[in-house]
Amino acid sequence: MITKSLLLPFCTVALAFVVKATDGSAPTIDWDAHQWMAPGPNDLRGPCPGLNTLANHGFLPRDGRDLDMSVILDAGFKGYNMQPDLLASAVKIAFLTTEDPFSFTLDDIKVHGNIEHDASLSRNDFALGDNVHFNETIFTTLANSNPGVDYYNTTSAGQVMHRRLADDEIANPNITNTDKEFSIRSGESAFYLSVMGDPITGVAPKKFVQIFFREERLPIAEGWHRPETPINQSTLVPLIIDIASASNWTSSGGCPVIVLGPDGSHF
Ligand code: HEM
Ligand SMILES: *[C@@H]1O[C@H](CO)[C@@H](O)[C@H](O)[C@H]1NC(C)=O
Ligand SMILES: *[C@@H]1O[C@H](CO)[C@@H](O)[C@H](O)[C@H]1NC(C)=O
Ligand SMILES: *[C@@H]1O[C@H](CO)[C@@H](O)[C@H](O)[C@H]1NC(C)=O
Ligand SMILES: *[C@@H]1O[C@H](CO)[C@@H](O)[C@H](O)[C@H]1NC(C)=O
Ligand SMILES: *[C@@H]1O[C@H](CO)[C@@H](O)[C@H](O)[C@H]1NC(C)=O
Repeated sequence: MITKSLLLPFCTVALAFVVKATDGSAPTIDWDAHQWMAPGPNDLRGPCPGLNTLANHGFLPRDGRDLDMSVILDAGFKGYNMQPDLLASAVKIAFLTTEDPFSFTLDDIKVHGNIEHDASLSRNDFALGDNVHFNETIFTTLANSNPGVDYYNTTSAGQVMHRRLADDEIANPNITNTDKEFSIRSGESAFYLSVMGDPITGVAPKKFVQIFFREERLPIAEGWHRPETPINQSTLVPLIIDIASASNWTSSGGCPVIVLGPDGSHF
């Protein structure tokens, strides 16, 4: 088993993934060259709405193939103003989902138990069916959260995690829900608030978040723009702590395991 602290949100600050920070100043991005296009029949997509969206806008290869560290870090910076510290560890882990030592695809990363986990916000559990494609029924919990206002925030994100887990513990008695999955889920919730909203306050317009999940599109026409604040551990960890706290999480038992290969092998 790989050390579980690798993914614990409360430990992220202490993690020694030393990656040189990119210059936070706005790069010149030709947004006209990055229009949204639906994937074609031979293009690969996967369980991550963040990466699918980057591919749909051509920040990642539109065919969803030939992904590696530099391709992902470049796309995350250009599309979302994400700094490398956050993405680098996910890419390292994702590399375990393929036998190819040089690249992976958006489809490869669906391997259950690597990054992919149960109780997602917008996908079903692996054991219950389709863990790759967007599912509106699953997404209803997030879509309907924070009633009465037009934004999501760290409180609502934590409540959504709580509700998804409670529902899923009933739907999937074999659920895997250790602190590993909890850490990844908390980070993903902070991701959607940060890229679709304000990375400092963690407040994100509902309309933007819904387009991001449902259409895997940057809602530029609706008024979204690339976050001016560079998203990195300094912005993300405070959001993760608030989200995690609001989620009132408890483990469903078992030990954290990271699946190390496409065949499901692990220590
Ligand atoms: C570029 C910025 C990124 C953003 C904004 C982002 C955002 C998200 C969000 C919001 C989810 C939750 C989906 C859900 O629960 O239904 C997710 C899931 C996922 N992400 Fe990303 N992500 C990013 C980068 C990455 C990277 C670099 C990797 C690995 C190479 C990755 C792999 C995954 C996987 C495998 C899932 C599926 C987890 C599951 O729901 O079972 N993501 N991502
Ligand atoms: C979406 O998820 C629901 C709830 O698990 C399930 O009943 C439904 O079959 C799923 N839809 C698709 C298209 O997979
Ligand atoms: C999130 O929004 C709800 C509804 O406006 C509010 O009650 C709650 O205090 C907000 N949470 C934070 C952290 O501001
Ligand atoms: C849970 O796992 C057991 C043993 O592997 C299996 O027999 C059962 O069908 C699984 N249940 C679900 C809902 O996946
Ligand atoms: C995050 O970015 C801000 C602004 O560029 C910078 O001041 C801060 O040192 C960065 N934090 C980390 C952990 O890289
Ligand atoms: C938090 O979870 C515990 C254990 O499941 C439960 O007893 C408690 O009532 C929950 N609190 C809130 C505020 O949901």
